[in-house]
Amino acid sequence: MTLKDLNERFGLENALVFEEGAGGLVRAVVDNQHATAEIYLHGGHVTRFRPHGSDEVLWLSEQAVYQAGKAIRGGIPIVWPWFGPHPSSPDQPQHGYARTAAWDVVGTEQEVNNTTRLQLRLRPQPATQPSGQLDLIITVGSSLELDLTTRNLSNEPFTFGCALHTYLAVGDIDQVTIEGLEGGRYIDKLDEEKRKVQSGAIRIGREVDRVYLNTDTTCTVVDPSLRREIRVAKGGSLTTVIWNPWAEKAASMGDFPDVAFRQMVCVETANTADDVRTLAPGEAHTLWAAISVDSL
Ligand code: BG6
Repeated sequence: MTLKDLNERFGLENALVFEEGAGGLVRAVVDNQHATAEIYLHGGHVTRFRPHGSDEVLWLSEQAVYQAGKAIRGGIPIVWPWFGPHPSSPDQPQHGYARTAAWDVVGTEQEVNNTTRLQLRLRPQPATQPSGQLDLIITVGSSLELDLTTRNLSNEPFTFGCALHTYLAVGDIDQVTIEGLEGGRYIDKLDEEKRKVQSGAIRIGREVDRVYLNTDTTCTVVDPSLRREIRVAKGGSLTTVIWNPWAEKAASMGDFPDVAFRQMVCVETANTADDVRTLAPGEAHTLWAAISVDSL
């Protein structure tokens, strides 16, 4: 669909417009009473969210690559239908292919409370046809909500993992604490997948790559340097991934500025590890996250 067609069919006056974004990729720009946001159809990828009067909530790499077949570094990549390496074929892309594929617009809506909804659907991929259909509803208000629904359209059980791989912007990682996972068990991906117990709130002073298990709690990222806290509430998920690449890994990534690990942390609402899901024919599962900010 051309930009003109998209705007005629799905544009919302004073709320949502489609335009050409970085790399010539199409993005939806939302600007309503509550907030501004940007969503690329490539990857179904929210790259920006800023409630009026607040700073950007999502971290977005200045070196991100905007290109079909590549994942945008930052914002909220959609991980699906597997998390991390493919469970049996190592040559398949890490974190699945939803984040590097084209999505279609299914609908847009301005709601009574002046929030704006955009519904996207992953364009059918040969590898999933006819098993899994993936829909993403993005609601932009004073908070940002993402609802990611997987439907099994086949006659066989469909097993999948997924995540809303949320990059949050922080002022200074040294001052940040992440609350909500105290006492929880996690898999330490940097220490032979050992299962450990979280003592106290999380502080990040080195590379961290952890899958917190059996948790449905809200995480709060307390950030004194920006005098704010970001809350990530969630549902349909019993795993939360906390990731920061720190210096060495950041330097090895072409799309990640060397020192930017100090300005971000990922709090990922996931279905992975013990929480991979299997849908019977006809069943659906929704993973959701709501991200909001408060001043400190
Ligand atoms: C996290 C994983 O979710 O994503 C990490 O737990 C991984 O292991 C990180 O390094 C980034 O992955 P990618 O594929 O976007 O570089």
